[in-house]
Amino acid sequence: NDEAAIEALIGRMTLEEKAGQLSLFADPIRIGTQNRINPDAGPRIDEGLAQRIREGRLVGLFNGTGAAAGRELQRLAVEESRLKIPLLFGADVLHGLRTVFPIPLGEAASFDPALAERTARAAAVEATAHGIHWTFAPMVDIGRDQRWGRVAEGAGEDPYLGSLFAAARVRGFQGRRLSDADSLLACPKHFVGYGAAVGGMEYNSVEMSEQTLHDVYLPPFKAAFDAGAMSSMSGFNDLNGVPLTAHRPLLSGLLRDQWKFRGVVVSDYTADRELVMHGVATDDRDATRQAILAGVDISMQSDLYNQHLPSLVSSGELPLAVVDEAVRRVLRVKQLLGLFDDPYRSLDPAVQKRDTQTAAARDLARESARASIVLLKNKDDVLPLRKSGQKIALIGPFGADVANLAGPWAPFADMKDAVSVEQGLRKALLDPALLKTVKGCDPEREIRGGFDKAVAAARAADVVLLAIGETQDMSGEAASQTDILLPIVQQKLAEAVIGTGTPVVVLLRNGRALALEGAVRDARALLVTWFLGVETGNAIADIVFGDHSPSGRLPVSFPQAAGQQPFSYAHRPTGRPQVAAEDPFWKARYRHVTNAALFAFGHGLTYSRFEYGEPDVGGGTMAWDGSLTVRVKLTNTGSREAEETVQLYVHDRVASLSRPVRELKGVRKVRLAAGASGVVAFTLNREQLSFHDARMNLVAEPGEFEVWLAPSATSGVAGIFVLEPPAPGG
Ligand code: IFM
Repeated sequence: NDEAAIEALIGRMTLEEKAGQLSLFADPIRIGTQNRINPDAGPRIDEGLAQRIREGRLVGLFNGTGAAAGRELQRLAVEESRLKIPLLFGADVLHGLRTVFPIPLGEAASFDPALAERTARAAAVEATAHGIHWTFAPMVDIGRDQRWGRVAEGAGEDPYLGSLFAAARVRGFQGRRLSDADSLLACPKHFVGYGAAVGGMEYNSVEMSEQTLHDVYLPPFKAAFDAGAMSSMSGFNDLNGVPLTAHRPLLSGLLRDQWKFRGVVVSDYTADRELVMHGVATDDRDATRQAILAGVDISMQSDLYNQHLPSLVSSGELPLAVVDEAVRRVLRVKQLLGLFDDPYRSLDPAVQKRDTQTAAARDLARESARASIVLLKNKDDVLPLRKSGQKIALIGPFGADVANLAGPWAPFADMKDAVSVEQGLRKALLDPALLKTVKGCDPEREIRGGFDKAVAAARAADVVLLAIGETQDMSGEAASQTDILLPIVQQKLAEAVIGTGTPVVVLLRNGRALALEGAVRDARALLVTWFLGVETGNAIADIVFGDHSPSGRLPVSFPQAAGQQPFSYAHRPTGRPQVAAEDPFWKARYRHVTNAALFAFGHGLTYSRFEYGEPDVGGGTMAWDGSLTVRVKLTNTGSREAEETVQLYVHDRVASLSRPVRELKGVRKVRLAAGASGVVAFTLNREQLSFHDARMNLVAEPGEFEVWLAPSATSGVAGIFVLEPPAPGG
């Protein structure tokens, strides 16, 4: 049987070969140094790498792609190494390989996990066709501080929404059976807390209560493991002083012992060596010992495990059983992937050709890009625009831009045929001559005469589409910002263009929530378009011209001002909450802005309107072991078919610990024809009302709860219900 075969193999391995199975390296040929990827590098294999493979000194390689090169590397492993253990090929496939889908944050705005499951599946088909077995995704870190650049890679600020997307993406990547040639091993990362880096600064320390860790940051990981994820990556960060790469209570105690996770944990890039810099390990050898003892099975890139594990075991400083257990997990994963049965799975150049940038993947990219767009504001129904008879000025650095469509962590993107905003609009227009494109400025610099041309174009137009926002390297890894404002030059451009009086529709390109201060707020309409990938322009045209009604919702709150970070709708109430009708002095607030978000989590308009009826809270009591169904009648009171995203929020009014003012507990997307009504129902149970109390017990406390059925985190129709205490003796 499988386990016996693994034991037999472990029995034959030298200590050096065991260390090799726990050591992962960036593909030195296909990506070069510094993890900067060149997807077009040829399949050349140098003698140094070949020798390492023959000696069994590596578990696999990452961030090199290509079935032909992978086949040759695999041949070396299974034909020329002593134990013939197949290699594992990993890569950062966050939102597509060659076909680029919207950034994960954008896709989370669809509030539609089933869609994310489909795009993850499509990404898996393409990535496995290029010889990849393992993706370092999904990124499931909660992002409540928009200064942190990696907010772009996750599903936003909310643990419930984050959990839905985490599970969906795992299902999509891993497919039906891990051994299928198009199944991609998922790796929810970065375990855990990384998103809460102090000040939003990349790689920074994390200070967090146990309650927040368990109620907010861990749930998406749990959801991902429950969905079957068989690997995880430990974070770079420390948590309350303990770097995650040495965090035994979390990596072993929680993950393995409590959650029964049987997969592998890989360190982040050189994070084991960084234990020395963190000041918790005396040297590399000590770092190695701490990392493996904590539960990090695979060391990424540092080569520390190769260098130190054998001697740590021989000297008696590290039990052999710890190394064997890590090797066992690694071999089990290789076995689950079917690599022992067919080491050449996913390494077929003909399949690579067949499954690269298929028409179906492109269609899906357009569908998901469209579903990611969020309409924040649409004064006087300026949108949708007409496809003829209207002079449109497309102004701004991102109108014709093709260099910033993919967004962060899309290193293998093939953007040759990507559709810019301008191209998409032109294709959709019946009279493309009515579109005039003017750059106005560079993303961070003025260009000579740029503003004058922009103002002239705005004056001559009936409507302006203002394409502003972030370049793709302004967000993503190592792209923290001290504030989340638009670059000053773009704010000035917006001022000049909006000052002409011509109606302006802002097309915002962004990898995080931005603080829309100044003139941009006065634009007639605001569309959040994130980084939408290869189909950017087509998807934007679909929405702008009304072929599709926008349906996206914000997965992160847009604050009033840049300084309001971190920010979440699910904050706790203070003793001095800000109340509109009351004197604002002596209240928990900043001096110049209200606390409410400018655009709340969950907010998003469409081209129709929806009305919520009176909520029905099903009798108003939930028995301790029972459930409660909450309903609301929803009517499309507008003039066209559209989709509404109904959100269910709760608030525990009085509890042993102060509870968030609202917490999301359910999401339903409902499509209704103009004038049509439907009833939307959610069923709640006690488990959904629970939280970690002061003793870290997961509890639900009897008493009154507020409940909202709502189009956003700060609106909706409300009711009250009571959770009854358990029956005596129950
Ligand atoms: O997967 C990534 C991780 O998210 C950040 N550091 C590098 C890894 C491998 O490329």
